[in-house]
Amino acid sequence: MEEPTMPSHVEIVEVGLRDGLQAEPVFVPTEEKIAIAKALIAAGLKHFEATSFVSPRAVPQMADAAEVIAAVRQPGVLLSALVPNAKGAERAAEAGVDAMVVFMSASESHNLKNVNRSRAESLRGFADVARIAADAGIPVHGAIATAFGCPFEGIVPVDTITDIARQYRDLGIETISLGDTTGMATPTLVKERCRALAKAVPDAEVALHFHNTRGVGLVCVYAGLEEGITRFESSLGGLGGCPFAPNATGNICTEDLVYMLEETGIDTGVDLEALIEVAKRTERAVQHGLPGQLMKAGPRLKTYDMESVRTAAG
Ligand code: COA
Ligand code: ZN
Repeated sequence: MEEPTMPSHVEIVEVGLRDGLQAEPVFVPTEEKIAIAKALIAAGLKHFEATSFVSPRAVPQMADAAEVIAAVRQPGVLLSALVPNAKGAERAAEAGVDAMVVFMSASESHNLKNVNRSRAESLRGFADVARIAADAGIPVHGAIATAFGCPFEGIVPVDTITDIARQYRDLGIETISLGDTTGMATPTLVKERCRALAKAVPDAEVALHFHNTRGVGLVCVYAGLEEGITRFESSLGGLGGCPFAPNATGNICTEDLVYMLEETGIDTGVDLEALIEVAKRTERAVQHGLPGQLMKAGPRLKTYDMESVRTAAG
């Protein structure tokens, strides 16, 4: 069998400030969010899903969306933000985001939980979002949540994903992200869904968004790489989780992802040591430990003084 060709460069979309923080019970001060974002930019990250223009009653942590965008915007950095409806699109356009991300769940029940409306209602609203965004000259990306399984319905048929992707395309959306809200993706499902999308919407750019809930997040990335995917969403320290899904845990961890990619010979443009320092800072900001592994173990070739470890003498 022929070896799959790996890409030479991958774009990482840092979603820690959005997916990462949205379920955190303690409000992280706006100044701290901005400082974390700037430190991440200094570490080499260039694309952020930086916040959500959702209802601040639904997700209080995102109430400062406009301030975060205003303070972090800069040339060479792409700031996208989640937008659930026309009101969100107006707020996002006014704040000056570089891209709006509409989102709906592949499963009806999770869409009802997450945005309090059916998928059909969500899609109708996205037509308004697309119009507001076009008037402001801002591109729209489309996210599909519960794309690999739903915590309420179980299996999500692949045809549901391709149907939503076609509806996104009909709205002029060319970048589509498959979100694994509760960590139900497996490498087999990743391959199946990437191939189905490549057929259904061949012109779309597909990004993958995994959560490490069942420990196979990076394996799913590897499966995506083998399918030619070059954009992955991750969260520093492995922060993250959807507040409107049971047992939702963190995204795949950005440092761990950078480590795996760079050790595979794939360029990310990110300084791993600098990123680890930002993850440690973020741990202090959210006031609890994070699941990231590189931030604990350090890079592979980190060496220790032999005197620092006791000898196993009997
Ligand atoms: N930004 C700010 N406020 C908004 C808003 C937005 N995008 N959309 C609606 N609101 C406000 C309305 O103005 C209204 O306020 P009022 O009562 O003071 O007049 C209130 O929210 C209710 O509006 P309604 O359209 O009836 O919304 P809803 O209560 O059915 O909630 C959503 C729908 C989509 C706004 C809400 O469920 C939501 O924000 N969900 C986001 C979920 C999320 O971020 N999940 C994690 C990411 S996957
Ligand atoms: Zn997510």
